[in-house]
Amino acid sequence: MSEITTTADALETIRKVRQVRQYVPGEVSDDQLHQLLEIARWTGSSRNMQPWRFVVVRDKAVLQQLAALRENITWVADAALVIALVSPGHNLQHEAYDEGRVTERLMIAASMLDLGAGTAWFGEPEREAKAKALLHVPEGSTLRSVVAIGPFVTSKDPRPAGPRPGRLPLDELVRWETYE
Ligand SMILES: Cc1cc2nc3c(=O)[nH]c(=O)nc-3n(C[C@H](O)[C@H](O)[C@H](O)COP(=O)(O)O)c2cc1C
Repeated sequence: MSEITTTADALETIRKVRQVRQYVPGEVSDDQLHQLLEIARWTGSSRNMQPWRFVVVRDKAVLQQLAALRENITWVADAALVIALVSPGHNLQHEAYDEGRVTERLMIAASMLDLGAGTAWFGEPEREAKAKALLHVPEGSTLRSVVAIGPFVTSKDPRPAGPRPGRLPLDELVRWETYE
């Protein structure tokens, strides 16, 4: 694990978390997986409903089938595992927000364990339905995304037409006291 001995190290580790799409063969150990799931478990959620259920998928054949559901997520096939985020579909807005929170925590924790992680969305309802069928998720529940995790080479986006890299500068993002 990368040495994190100071607050500055910890903040820098979090700042550097990126979407990983280039994985290499290798494992997430049971101990690492347990740590990741504990971090996920303790994520805060709307009214502490903890709407998520985490489906851990390590079966390569299933990873390949999930990856094939959408062109933008083919890299999922190369991850060591995915954690599929299933919600009950009772409050779509709250559950989507909660899903974002748990995703980011998983990505940060993976990075601290020297693993890569990336969110993969299925996109359209038909693709989501196929993903649900693959993982035997009940009809009314939501499965919008999975978090892929595993040993990786780089967090560079290999796609020629991916989103623009980097981030907007703070002076473009931050307003003081009022918006305008
Ligand atoms: C809601 C959401 C959906 C995303 N879906 C995908 C996806 O399906 N495939 C993919 O490769 N990246 C996906 N991403 C990752 C974004 O492209 C990524 O966070 C952004 O480009 C910044 O990348 P960076 O952290 O590597 O700089 C998604 C991110 C979010 C927040």
